[in-house]
Amino acid sequence: MSDLPVKIITVDGPAASGKTTIGRMLADKLGFMFFDTGVMYRAVALAAYQAGVNPTDEEAVSALAEKITIDVKPVGAGDDRTSIVLLDGDDVSWAIREPVVDATVSKVSGYARVRAAMVAQQRKVGLRGKVVMIGRDIGTVVLPEADKKIYLEATLEVRARRRFQDLDSRGGDQSLEEVQAGLAARDEADTGRDLSPLRPAKDAFVIDTSELTPEETIRKIEPLLAG
Ligand code: CDP
Repeated sequence: MSDLPVKIITVDGPAASGKTTIGRMLADKLGFMFFDTGVMYRAVALAAYQAGVNPTDEEAVSALAEKITIDVKPVGAGDDRTSIVLLDGDDVSWAIREPVVDATVSKVSGYARVRAAMVAQQRKVGLRGKVVMIGRDIGTVVLPEADKKIYLEATLEVRARRRFQDLDSRGGDQSLEEVQAGLAARDEADTGRDLSPLRPAKDAFVIDTSELTPEETIRKIEPLLAG
């Protein structure tokens, strides 16, 4: 696959639709950089929490997002984190996965100045090429010029079970029902917001991963990359 002419691949979709697993597999196969944009919005939500800023205070959250420095670095093989995330130099790779961030991230990611600050950094990384970038609006807004766009979806029940297993294996204490309710609330906020709502780009290849293993999903994507 590494001789393909593809330079920018975007993978969008709702939480736990398989973006991280599939994005990483694709990046590894192609020798491309893997970039998970969700961690940036999570870092903003965490920064607000740590600073005692109310997530509903758009002005204060926006000012904070413009002030903080978020560095995203790739992880080595066998590392469970999707990326190493530094917030003003501190490693927050695990802290951004805490329930308080899950509960507030979709609020802060709806703010125009927050998005503007994050998208500018994401475009800079994306336009260097040889990248698999995952998120909600990568094919529609961040990198509309991408060579190949993939949109992954899966039923809420399947996604909740996947996320519950992830969290449970890391010692999380949320029930399956709580995880599912959290995902449903985030889906609604992400698809219903005015700015860059979650939706497939017109030229995206949409795959429902509900009944597919990661390998089966990759097999469906491979012919698309060659085309
Ligand atoms: O990992 P998970 O699928 O749960 O979510 P994530 O990709 O880490 O994204 C967390 C939240 O950040 C999403 O629910 C969106 O509100 C926001 N986000 C966004 O608005 N745009 C992106 N490109 C990526 C994430």
